Amino acid sequence: MKTVKSLAQMKQNKEKIVMMTAYDYPSAVLCEQAGMDLILVGDSLGMVVLGYETTIPVTVDEMIYHTKTVRRGAASTFVVTDMPFMSYHGSIDTTLDNARRIMQESGASAVKLEGGGKIAETVKRLTDSGVPVMGHLGLTPQSVGVEGGYKVHGKQRKEAEALIEDAKKLEQSGAFAIVLECVPQQLAEIASEALQIPVIGIGAGAGADGQVLVYHDIVGYGSHHVPKFVKKYGEISPVILDALTSYKQEVKNGTFPAQEHSFTMKEEELPTLYG
Ligand code: KIV
Ligand code: NA
Repeated sequence: MKTVKSLAQMKQNKEKIVMMTAYDYPSAVLCEQAGMDLILVGDSLGMVVLGYETTIPVTVDEMIYHTKTVRRGAASTFVVTDMPFMSYHGSIDTTLDNARRIMQESGASAVKLEGGGKIAETVKRLTDSGVPVMGHLGLTPQSVGVEGGYKVHGKQRKEAEALIEDAKKLEQSGAFAIVLECVPQQLAEIASEALQIPVIGIGAGAGADGQVLVYHDIVGYGSHHVPKFVKKYGEISPVILDALTSYKQEVKNGTFPAQEHSFTMKEEELPTLYG
């Protein structure tokens, strides 16, 4: 299993880090087989598998539930779990308890929090308590209501400099890595150079120390919106629809189940019908 140390080493060696967002047992099994460095149980599960419009409705309990299933499928992979909307903005006691629950009840290896300087103290308290923390800057979907939508972040110098400042604050507060979402590729490159800790990009170009994408997005599974920065490596939905349609037709026309899917018993064991 990767550790915060070996991940830092990968950055030193200029070895790209690959992370995959996944939410359940079968996808986690495949992620581990494929050799993902990290699995992220992302709160994007709200849109991708729970059918919400945003990540806002996702709860700590749901994150724990999904992380448990991922952990069972990928016992030897470093698993990061998103702390969901407003689960780390109240009292520090509540924040620490939510992180404790995620770590203890689900077996996560680390947590991920969205935000920069404003949550630096929280990141410090968590790492001081023994909770490895991954940061998340740029497009931060939990703030979509405040921001008024999804867009590329850091395109203007002032915003770009603020982002680097935030990233440095997270590093100083003990974060072991940072996700940079939906920023110009030049900015991700500069951030990766400016930081000792790995920068994992999504919609952030090739210059980051690593990449993350969502399982369902790359295999083409689901009916949620798929952003421009995703590369689809497969198209599984039509395959599934085909199987479902065939199954339906075969049940309707009586070709399923066939003999090979059926059990038989000896003639003399057949129950007698009375009445
Ligand atoms: O929830 C998620 O999947 C994420 C990644 C896209 C970074 O936060
Ligand atoms: Na997320």
